[in-house]
Amino acid sequence: PVLVVDFGAQYAQLIARRVREANVYSELVPHTMPVSQMLAKDPKAIILSGGPASVYEPGAPTIDKSVFEAGVPVLGICYGFQVMAQELGGKVDKAALGEYGKTDTVIDHADGVLADSPNDQTTWMSHGVAVEQAPAGFEVLAHTAGAPVAAMQDKSRRLYGVQWHPEVKHTPLGQELISTFLHDCAGLPRDWDASGIIEDQVAKIRAQVGDAEVICGLSGGVDSAVAATLVHKAIGDQLTCVFVDHGMLRKGEADQVKHDFVEATGIRMITVDASEDFLAALKGVTEPERKRKIIGEKFIRTFEKAQRQVLEEAGARGKEVKFLVQGTLYPDVVESGGGDGAANIKSHHNVGGLPDDVKFELIEPLRTLFKDEVRAIGTQLGLPESMVWRQPFPGPGLGIRIVGEITKERLDLLRDADAIAREEMSRAGLDREIWQCPVVLLANVHSVGVQGDERTYGSPIVLRPITSEDAMTADWYRLPYDVLATISTRITNECPSINRVVLDCTSKPPATIEWE
Ligand code: XMP
Repeated sequence: PVLVVDFGAQYAQLIARRVREANVYSELVPHTMPVSQMLAKDPKAIILSGGPASVYEPGAPTIDKSVFEAGVPVLGICYGFQVMAQELGGKVDKAALGEYGKTDTVIDHADGVLADSPNDQTTWMSHGVAVEQAPAGFEVLAHTAGAPVAAMQDKSRRLYGVQWHPEVKHTPLGQELISTFLHDCAGLPRDWDASGIIEDQVAKIRAQVGDAEVICGLSGGVDSAVAATLVHKAIGDQLTCVFVDHGMLRKGEADQVKHDFVEATGIRMITVDASEDFLAALKGVTEPERKRKIIGEKFIRTFEKAQRQVLEEAGARGKEVKFLVQGTLYPDVVESGGGDGAANIKSHHNVGGLPDDVKFELIEPLRTLFKDEVRAIGTQLGLPESMVWRQPFPGPGLGIRIVGEITKERLDLLRDADAIAREEMSRAGLDREIWQCPVVLLANVHSVGVQGDERTYGSPIVLRPITSEDAMTADWYRLPYDVLATISTRITNECPSINRVVLDCTSKPPATIEWE
C-alpha cells in the first residue's frame, strides 16, 4: 500500500482518498506507529499529512528520520513537509507572513513532482510556519510570499515536499500533483479500481463463508445495500436480508428497499413492518438522546426477532447461519481506532449495531473502502442510481428530525415536506453538489401565519443543506434563492399546518448536521 501518516489533521483521510482516486491503494497510519512497523507493511510510497502543531515547538509530533532513509519515496504535505525539512537539517521557523486559503504560488522549476506544472498557479495553504531553507541535497521548486520554500525535492533519494494542500479541491492542480508523485516519481501502477475490488471481495467472502448461511440487515442506505449485493454475488442464496421498517424513513424509501432492491438483486428478504411498535415506544418522548436510545434498542429487539426466523428457516434447509454482514466503511474503522477520549456528542445508531451476545462472525466487505468507492461498486453491481446516490441518512431516521414528540401525523407531514425539498433540489441539478439536506420539523414551535385569508398557527420547516467531505465538519450550502423560493412556496401550499420555511445557515461546528 501507500501509507498516509496522520499527523492529526482533518486532511489525512482526504489524502488517502485522493490516492485511491489515482487508482492506487492507500492506508492510514498514525504518526505514533514506529517506522519499523510502517516499513513492515512494505509501503510502495509514504505520504506525511498536515497537522495542527508547529514543528519547532517542544513535544511537536514528528517521525523518525529512518523513514527518509528506507529507499521508499516520500511526499510531505504541509506539516509533513515541514517535518521532513526539519528532520533532514533544513531551517523551519515562524513564517514572516502566514498564508490561509487561496495563495498565489510561483513554480520556479517545473520538474519532478511538479513536472509540466504551469509557472503561476493557485494553491490552498494553511500555515503560520515556513521552511526558510531546504535541507542539503534538495532543490527548491516553488515559492510564495509567505513560503520561501513552498516545494522541494531530492530526486536521487525520491523525497518530495509541498507546503500547500494538494488533497483539497481548492488546489486546482492538486490531484495532478498526487498522481505525478505516485505514478511518475514512485513508479506505481494504476491497479486499484471498482471491478478489482469486487473480484477480490467475492473471492474472499466465498473463502470465509464456505457453505454456511449469512444474514444481513438492510437500512435502505448505500452501505448496507452494496455490502449485501456484494455478498449475494459471492454466495447467492446462502444470504438472507432483513429489513426492519421503523416507520421513520423518507417517502418512498421503504418501498425502494422492499421492491426495487429485491428486483434488482434477487436477494431473499424478510421485511418486518414495525412502525406501530416504534411509535408506541416513542409516545410522549421529546428528549433527543432518549429518542435515540429507544429507537436503537427497539431496533435491536425487532432485528433479533427476525433473526430467529432466519435461523429457523435456515435450519429447515439443514443449514446453519454463522455470519452477519455489516456495511462498515474505512472511516468508521479509522475513527473507532483513534477515537479515545472523544466526547460523546450524540449516540449514533447504525443498522447492525447489534447486542454483544450475538455469536455471529462478521463479514465486512467494505471495511477498507471510502464512500466514493462504495458508490462506484454499487453502480458496477447494477444497483439503481437512486439508491447508490442516496444522501447519508441517520439510523433513527425522521425521528430525530422532528423536534418534539414523534407522531404518525407529524411523520407524514415531514415526509411530504422532505419529498418536496428533495424533488426541487434534484430538479435544479444539485443532487451531487449538496452532500446532505436534513429537512426538520419544529413541531413544538408555533408562529402566526395567514393562509387562505385565515389566521393560522402552524409549525416551521427548517432546510439544512450542507456540503461536507466526511460529516465531521460541514459548511451550509448556498442554495440559490429561486430554488429556496420554489421549495418554500410548495411546502407552505402543499403541507397543511406548515406556515413558514426557514434556512439553517450554520456550519459544523458549532452546529451539528442533524438537529437532534
Ligand atoms: P451530526 O448530526 O452528528 O451528523 O453532525 C453527522 C452525520 O451522521 C449522520 N447521523 C447518523 N447516522 N446513525 C447514523 O447512521 C445516527 O444515529 C446518526 N446521527 C446522525 C447525520 O445524518 C450526518 O450525516
